[in-house]
Amino acid sequence: MYRTNTCGELRLSHVGQKVTLAGWVQRSRKMGGMTFVDLRDRYGITQLVFNQESDAGLCEQANKLGREYVIQVTGTVTERSNKNANLPTGDIEIIAEKLVVLHTAETPPFTIEDESDGGDDIRMQYRYLDLRRPIVRRNLELRHKMAFEVRRYLDDLNFLEVETPVLIKSTPEGARDFVVPSRMNPGEFYALPQSPQTLKQLLMVSGFDRYFQIVKCFRDEDLRADRQPEFTQIDCEMSFVEQEDILNIFEGMIKHLFKKIRGIEFKEPFLRMTWADAMKYYGSDKPDMRFGMRFVELKDLTEGHNFGVFDSAEYVGGICAEGCATYSRKQLDELTDFVKRPQIGAKGLIYVRFDENGNPKSSVDKFYSADDLKKWGERFGAKPGDLLLILAGPTMKTRKALCELRLEMGSRLGLRDKDTFAPLWVIDFPLFEWDEETQRFYAMHHPFTSPKAEDIPLLDSDTGAVRANAYDMVINGVELGGGSIRIHDSELQDHMFRLLGFTEEQAEAQFGFLMNAFKYGAPPHGGLAFGLDRLVSMFAGLDSIRDCIAFPKNNSGRDVMLNAPSPLDDSQLDELCILVKPKK
Ligand code: AMO
Repeated sequence: MYRTNTCGELRLSHVGQKVTLAGWVQRSRKMGGMTFVDLRDRYGITQLVFNQESDAGLCEQANKLGREYVIQVTGTVTERSNKNANLPTGDIEIIAEKLVVLHTAETPPFTIEDESDGGDDIRMQYRYLDLRRPIVRRNLELRHKMAFEVRRYLDDLNFLEVETPVLIKSTPEGARDFVVPSRMNPGEFYALPQSPQTLKQLLMVSGFDRYFQIVKCFRDEDLRADRQPEFTQIDCEMSFVEQEDILNIFEGMIKHLFKKIRGIEFKEPFLRMTWADAMKYYGSDKPDMRFGMRFVELKDLTEGHNFGVFDSAEYVGGICAEGCATYSRKQLDELTDFVKRPQIGAKGLIYVRFDENGNPKSSVDKFYSADDLKKWGERFGAKPGDLLLILAGPTMKTRKALCELRLEMGSRLGLRDKDTFAPLWVIDFPLFEWDEETQRFYAMHHPFTSPKAEDIPLLDSDTGAVRANAYDMVINGVELGGGSIRIHDSELQDHMFRLLGFTEEQAEAQFGFLMNAFKYGAPPHGGLAFGLDRLVSMFAGLDSIRDCIAFPKNNSGRDVMLNAPSPLDDSQLDELCILVKPKK
C-alpha cells in the first residue's frame, strides 16, 4: 500500500497512529537538529519531522530532498507544539521513521504556490506543474462539481445525455469552422461542431424528448478572455415546449447550481428584459444588472440652443453617477479620454454637476441655463451631489459608448462585486441582423430560430423588425447561455432560407438532411446551450475562462505546452492529398 492516508486528512484525533503518506515536497527547512518537510498532495499539506538525534541517517536522507521530489513517508502522528491555524492539518505533524524517494525532481521553473512567481507564458508551457497549484486545482474541482450538479438536475427531470459525433458537416453558428481532412475521401473535409445544433434537433425528430450533453464545441474565431477555440457547452433540447417552459426549467438549473455550489438562494424569478429595452437602457444585449445607471435620453430637451454637437446628433443620452459631483477636473478628463479611445470612439463627453444645493454646473453652461440643466437633472432623477455624463452621436454607436462608460463608472464606484450575482433573461431578440458590408440579412442566432408568431406577417415587408423566440441568460454582464424555439414547419423554414439568401440548391446541400428529417414528423421543439467554462469562471470569480480549463489555448489559439498547431510531415500531407502553399 502506497499510503494509509492523504496529506489533507490527519487531525488531533489521529495522534498516536502510525501512518504512511505519499506526495510532493512543497518545501523543507532545517532548524538545528530538526528537518521539517511540507508534504503536498491533492488533498492538502502535512508537516513531516525528521530528528537528527533519534535517527541521524534518516535526517541526512531528508536533508537531500529537493522541491517537488515525490516521496513516501511512514511515521507517527503527533500533536504539534507550534500549531499552524492556517492549515487544516496544522495541529499535527508526522514524526518520520522511514523515507522512500519515489522520484527525484528538477527544480521547477516557477514556485508551486498560490502566489507563484511564474508569468503566464511559462506557467502555460509547464501547465502540468501549474495544475499542481491548489488555486488552479480548486477551479477544476469546482468545474467537476458543477458539471456533476448539472447532470443530477437534468437527470432528475428525465433529460438523457446523448453523445453526438465530433467529425461532422459544417454547422451554421456564425464562426469559422475547424476542419479535418478525410484520408479516405481525398479533397473532402469534416468540420468540427461549432455546437451540436442540428444533431440535437434530429434527436427531437427521433423522439428523445429531453436531451442534454456536456460537449466540446469548436469555433475558429478571435479569442478573448471569455472565448476559447474549443470550449464546453451544456447543450439542451426539449420537445413539445414553449419558450416559457424552457426559461423555467433552465432558470431552475441555474438556481440549483447557485444553491448547491455557492449556497445562494434566489427566491424571486430572474429579471426579464426585451432586447430592445436592453439596448435602449444599457446599450448592450448583455447588461450588467448589479447596478443601475440606466440611460436617460435627452434629445428633445437639448434641441434649439445652438449647441451644434447636440443639435446635429441623432442621439443625446447619458447616465447619472450618484455622488460624483465632486469629481475633479482631472477625473473628468480621464473619463473624456476613456470615451475618446478608438475602441469606444466618442467625440467628447459633456458633464453636469449638481452641487449640494442642487445647483448645476456644466461643460455646456454657455448654451444651457441653470433651469434647462435642472430639467435634465429631473429626467435623470438626479439628487444634489450627483454627476451627469452625457454623450451624443449616432444612436447605436453612442449607446455602445455609453455602455462602456457605464461599466467603467460601475467599476470605479465599486458596484461590480464578484460575489454579487444579478441574473437576467434577455428575450425577444431580433430574428435578423443586417450586414452593411455584404448588404444582406444574417440570422442573429441561427437559421432554425423561429420568429414570434405575431411577427410572421412582417417577414417580407419589414424583415429587420421581426422578433425571434430567442433568449439569452446573462449574469453580471456575461452571456452565459442562449437558445431559441426552433422552426418546425418546413414551409416557414424554406421562407427563412430564402430571406437569408440561400438558393433552394444551397439550402438543400447544407441543411437537406435536417429538412428531410422534418418531413417524417418533427415535434415542436426548442432549447438552449450554456457555456460551461463561463459558468465555472463566474462561480469561481475568475477574470478569464482559461483558468478553469485544464489545458487551455493562448490568445493566438496555440497550446504552448504541446506546441500545437504544428506542421505535418510530407508523407502525412501526401496521404491526405494536401498541398501546403508556402507562407507569403
Ligand atoms: P451560442 O452560440 O449562443 O448558441 O452558444 C451558447 C453559449 O456557449 C458559450 N460560448 C463560448 N464559450 C467559450 N468560448 C467560446 N468561443 C464560446 N462561444 C460560445 C456562451 C454562449 O452563450 N446552438 C446554440 C444554442 C441553442 O440554440 O440551443 C449555440 O451554440 O456561453
